[in-house]
Amino acid sequence: MVGAGAGVGGPTVGLGFGALAAAEGKGKERQGPSPGASAGAADRVGARASPAEREPPRRQTVRPAEFRRRGEELGLSLGDFDMLDTLGTGTFGRVLLARLRTSPNRPNQTQPHYFAMKVLEKNTVVRLRQVEHVNSERSTLAHVRHPFVVNLFCTFQDEANLYMLLEYVQGGELFSHLRRAQRFSADVARFYTANIILVLENLHAQDIIYRDLKPENLLIDSTGHIKVTDFGFAKYVPERTWTLCGTPEYLAPEIITATGHGAAADWWALGVLLFELLAGYPPFFADNPLEIYEKILAGRYGVPRHIDPLAKDLIGRLLTDDLTKRLGNLKGGAQDVKNHPWFEGVDWESLARKEIRAPIIPMTINPGDVSNYERYPATAIETLPGVLRAISQRKYGFSPEKGPDPYGYLFPLF
Ligand SMILES: Nc1ncnc2c1ncn2[C@@H]1O[C@H](COP(=O)(O)OP(=O)(O)OP(=O)(O)O)[C@@H](O)[C@H]1O
Ligand SMILES: [Mg+2]
Repeated sequence: MVGAGAGVGGPTVGLGFGALAAAEGKGKERQGPSPGASAGAADRVGARASPAEREPPRRQTVRPAEFRRRGEELGLSLGDFDMLDTLGTGTFGRVLLARLRTSPNRPNQTQPHYFAMKVLEKNTVVRLRQVEHVNSERSTLAHVRHPFVVNLFCTFQDEANLYMLLEYVQGGELFSHLRRAQRFSADVARFYTANIILVLENLHAQDIIYRDLKPENLLIDSTGHIKVTDFGFAKYVPERTWTLCGTPEYLAPEIITATGHGAAADWWALGVLLFELLAGYPPFFADNPLEIYEKILAGRYGVPRHIDPLAKDLIGRLLTDDLTKRLGNLKGGAQDVKNHPWFEGVDWESLARKEIRAPIIPMTINPGDVSNYERYPATAIETLPGVLRAISQRKYGFSPEKGPDPYGYLFPLF
């Protein structure tokens, strides 16, 4: 079990105008110290990098399934939930543990159910120019169905916030488990990396790139398998895109140089992840993002001696700046990565069916147990005016004046 204080700091959305804004340290710090690495250097950046992307967003075809996932259409409203602990925080809002109370309207539900409610403040999303990303997060996550990806049940919005009702993943962040262990053995790293490969294979087959691979966004479920969360930068991209976004340590060279990137950037990030799992710190690190970018573009990193030659070879093939040579981006796609000798003996079918025993089985006491997550101070309710409204409605039996909703039209999917 990971206790309090396993990681520090909050979520990591750095925004502004690309590398410069990130270099000025406008983004938030990455969680927790990286042993051996200078902590806090990694910002998450989400700026527009090409004039093409400054055009009004293209209207996407809305799939009927997405509309079915509005809370109201499932007979749910925000007032049906008790908002409990904070599980994580981000620049636009936070992720709360939410308890769905029993109700005569839901006779089949005999006990409270627990969820993770991601709450994003609309005006912050607009101010930080993340409207497109948030809509994309909603539509990609609604579209994806995979045992190793967090399930989105439905969404809500009120005049203040957007809400995403997600399955609650109890085992905490892989980040916390990694920092506690300092580094993972080859077998443990192989298990988690293999989980991620199955996710990337599935996403890329649907032309979705993920773009924010890092241990903070990888949660561990009650069986010890990975659940990928945070589709904040995921995007439907049949070919290439130019937006500079991600977390500095994990950015592929082609994202930094804004030469257009696609699914290959996720394979680069997998190389960074594998290195970090085995070494305990990422291959490219420095005190500020610009220096990190320089190191990534120079492509030099030292591999600790305890990392075995096959793992080193795999890392090297993923951290290849030439896109035509990067493993995962070749003709065989994800299969090439699976076929690498470091994965010899992995039964991919059994893994996908969760039949392989996981290396860490998180301890949980009851369905609402949050002990695997970092402790946050009690939620300052006034920072979440929409939730406040929902709660006061229920508690005092009246519905306060609904405020103006100047941004509602920007979020048609919620
Ligand atoms: N389904 C979930 N179950 C439990 N905890 C979750 C879930 N989804 C997210 N969290 C927690 O909340 C944190 C923030 O969530 P998420 O990464 O989606 O938000 P974000 O605002 O995009 O954060 P950041 O900008 O830091 O990446 C996660 O790192 C994790 O600790
Ligand atoms: Mg995140």
